[in-house]
Amino acid sequence: MNQRKKGILISFEGTEGSGKSTLIRLLIQKLEAMKIEVIATREPGGNPVSEKIRETVLNFDMNPWTELLLYEAARSENLAQLVFPALRQGKVVLCDRFTDSSLAYQGSARGLPWEKVKVLNLIATQGLSPDLTVFLDIDPETGLRRAQDGNRFEAEGVHFQEKVRRGFLRARREHPSTWFTLKVQNQTPEQLAEAVLKELARRFRIRYKTV
Ligand code: TYD
Repeated sequence: MNQRKKGILISFEGTEGSGKSTLIRLLIQKLEAMKIEVIATREPGGNPVSEKIRETVLNFDMNPWTELLLYEAARSENLAQLVFPALRQGKVVLCDRFTDSSLAYQGSARGLPWEKVKVLNLIATQGLSPDLTVFLDIDPETGLRRAQDGNRFEAEGVHFQEKVRRGFLRARREHPSTWFTLKVQNQTPEQLAEAVLKELARRFRIRYKTV
């Protein structure tokens, strides 16, 4: 089913502490200043039902299948409420985490079968996939030092984050042409945002200008 389109869906992925949220905040400011219709959302979350699911999934231990299904439920609701309508209206949608997080966290790190996670992703998204995935690739240990959420995924430690990172690399290998990787070292958020804007200008009809 094609619930789209006209708009552009850009997902942002990375292990803990990679700086996605700060980057998205900056990008919103810059894109709005360029008069581009843009909205940002996050997973899990973005609407009352998915925010309730978020509280549950981030705070309670549960079996990995339940965890996956909750992420997929939150995703399905956020798509229906916010993302599909925005894409139909031609907006640029910036999504803090999307289907590749389920592959990396529940598939690679929790060890659920990769192909089954893909099937559930497909069901939750009705086949929608990002036009571009911006991957903030940070050394997992450095990321954990920077992370401040204190959620139960951070508490799993660095070995878990390494498995998450390997999951992202595997997902990228499956769709190399729609991934844009930024190796996070000592760049400022401003520099990271400029790099993403340049990439958007290269791929889409989004004119790049410094604001
Ligand atoms: P959040 O506080 O938003 O973390 P971050 O700032 O790192 O994005 O919490 C989201 C957490 O949920 C994060 O640890 C990754 C995890 N997650 C999954 O395990 N599977 C998923 O499908 C999604 C979307 C997120």
